[in-house]
Amino acid sequence: MAYATEDNITDLAVERWATAEDPRLAELMTGLVTHLHDFAREVRLTEQEWITAMGWLAATGQISDEKREEFILASDVLGLSMLVVQMNNRFAADATPATVLGPFHIDGSPAAPYGWDMSDGIDGIPFFITGAVRSTTGAPVPNAVLDVWQADADGNYESQLGIEEARLRAKYQAREDGTYCLRSIVPRGYAIPMDGPVGDLISRTEISYFRPAHIHFLFEEPGFERLVTHLFAEGTEYLDDDVVFGTKAELITRFVQHDGGVAPDGTTIDGPFVTAEYDFALQPEG
Ligand code: BEZ
Ligand code: FE
Repeated sequence: MAYATEDNITDLAVERWATAEDPRLAELMTGLVTHLHDFAREVRLTEQEWITAMGWLAATGQISDEKREEFILASDVLGLSMLVVQMNNRFAADATPATVLGPFHIDGSPAAPYGWDMSDGIDGIPFFITGAVRSTTGAPVPNAVLDVWQADADGNYESQLGIEEARLRAKYQAREDGTYCLRSIVPRGYAIPMDGPVGDLISRTEISYFRPAHIHFLFEEPGFERLVTHLFAEGTEYLDDDVVFGTKAELITRFVQHDGGVAPDGTTIDGPFVTAEYDFALQPEG
């Protein structure tokens, strides 16, 4: 084998990584090596810059734990998460499109019946979303489960508050005809976590570090493609410069203000509340 030179090192490294037993791993690693080397050549990476970059990667790992997902955040702000979402969720034009999962989803949310209030006791304006879960064929998805999560009015998710009980998240079950009703509080736009390595990098740019007001949904229905998506509030701030590139026109929903009256769950509310309607269209598998 030849010793490495500036000219042959990429070929040598590709040759080595091509020996991975799993052919897909070999493809991923040889592609990665090629692009990393091309990147280093193109920008003429200095030794000091590479040491700084590795320090940043180490810090990103060190701040991460099961509640703090700094690498997901890094992937999100680089636009890589959204690129991977787009490539892997090429649904029909009438299917509800996918967007980023983000770092704040928690598995195992409590089951919630039609109309349940997942914001019980948390400050905010009451918010109701109603609609149906359907196939793109138009058929209802009976008893579909809507795994829902959102931030509170201060922009904090449960995992950021270090609490153990489920907060502003639930798995709603739709009815036999696919219709659902959820109650929460009106979501607001918020800043992504800026107190770590990702925030440090962003703060050296003019990038807006906010996300527009939204609520998250995840569907895992047998016979349908998995769908990770959000609903965004129409007219809200940051729709055009979402720091994680997650906004999609089809997911922007009208949030209707009410001064009081009968809410979609049949209860009477004295003060202001907000309603939204959205029918989710799931893409059949295959
Ligand atoms: C979120 O919407 O929860 C989120 C997504 C990506 C980065 C940060 C937050
Ligand atoms: Fe969010």
